[in-house]
Amino acid sequence: MDGKKVLLIIAGGIAAFKALDVIRRLRERGVSVTPVLTKSAKEFVTPLSVSALSAAKVYSDLFDLTDEAEMGHIELSRSADLVCVVPATADLMAKMAHGLADDLASTLLLATDTPVMIAPAMNVRMWDHPATQRNLATLVGDGVTVVGPVEGPMACGEFGPGRMSDVADIVEAIAAHFADGPLAGKSVLVTSGPTHEPIDPVRYIANRSSGAQGTALAVALRDLGADVHFVTGPADVPPPPGVKVYPVQTAQEMLDQVQDLLPVDAAVCAAAVADWRVVGASDEKIKKDGDGTLPTLNFAENPDILATISQGKKRPSLVVGFAAETEKVIEHATAKRARKGCDWIVANDVSPETGIMGGDRNTVTVIDAKGAEAWDDMPKADVARRLAARIADALG
Ligand code: CTP
Repeated sequence: MDGKKVLLIIAGGIAAFKALDVIRRLRERGVSVTPVLTKSAKEFVTPLSVSALSAAKVYSDLFDLTDEAEMGHIELSRSADLVCVVPATADLMAKMAHGLADDLASTLLLATDTPVMIAPAMNVRMWDHPATQRNLATLVGDGVTVVGPVEGPMACGEFGPGRMSDVADIVEAIAAHFADGPLAGKSVLVTSGPTHEPIDPVRYIANRSSGAQGTALAVALRDLGADVHFVTGPADVPPPPGVKVYPVQTAQEMLDQVQDLLPVDAAVCAAAVADWRVVGASDEKIKKDGDGTLPTLNFAENPDILATISQGKKRPSLVVGFAAETEKVIEHATAKRARKGCDWIVANDVSPETGIMGGDRNTVTVIDAKGAEAWDDMPKADVARRLAARIADALG
């Protein structure tokens, strides 16, 4: 990212002090940073320290005539390769989602024609509030890249999602944005993690997928420059920075989200989608009856996301599936490839003794039209890198 220009908008939150470190690390990597402070950001960091670290003029006021004479706000908004908001407060996200422009930061965000990345930071209740979640969905739909937030203890004493991503992850996401590898300009959809199929509001059916392999794949594809759309069920491993994240719970939600995202250049279905959902899941918690009657669950088959993508009108030019098997791995996986209509199947043996589900290593066989290619046992990150390189070759 050497030589790139970032317009860094610092909003007023306790995490604003971390923006100073973001500036320092970006400059170390050859990025020039033009800082913009909102009025309330100045309560948390001083313009002097921001200016000293960035070695640049700090912009703050929409009606500063000197700035307008030097560089109008429209020009300022377009002078960078990327606009980053660190931290993005609930208030600024709301303004962005609604197109408000009542100060310099929000005006720049409305006027810019360059890509925008935000690192939200706020109290967990504010993050979980339906209004913020609505605004988030709007921003993601508008093409804004969202880094974090992560779970952790907060300055306000509460714990949960809302804490700003680590500085290193934010810088990594910015680096990923500028990565121009063989997949630059290509969009790749990755499904990952398990799905949760509700029985009632407190119980669900799930599986042992940790989301590790899908997450590693998203990272490897991102590092080759792809624009990664990461549709994830409730996984143990947090989603990586620098990809567009779409959290879902159920198989049906995953399918709806995937269909919204098509067309893409390639799709990789690494999710361990539940095969069945509970028919007539209860809206209320199912109670134990005093007479000892046991509840009965009736199942319906879930839609097959991989088969739907492979056989649909908007089929990507490359569709890759996984096959989780516990016996006759190659035979079953080969049949699965033909049945679903995908191009490649990455087969693995998920019997408990292999330790693959939930572990950090994997032994896979990649099956395509030409036959089966067995790979050595290796860390999931290496499987991901090799697969991403194979995808880059195929999309060539
Ligand atoms: N898959 C999917 N939607 C489903 C089920 C599976 O997209 N409803 C995808 C998985 O993401 C994976 C591939 O299909 O890429 C194979 O998943 P797997 O669990 O191995 O096979 P199933 O189709 O569930 O078949 P079976 O349970 O009979 O092995």
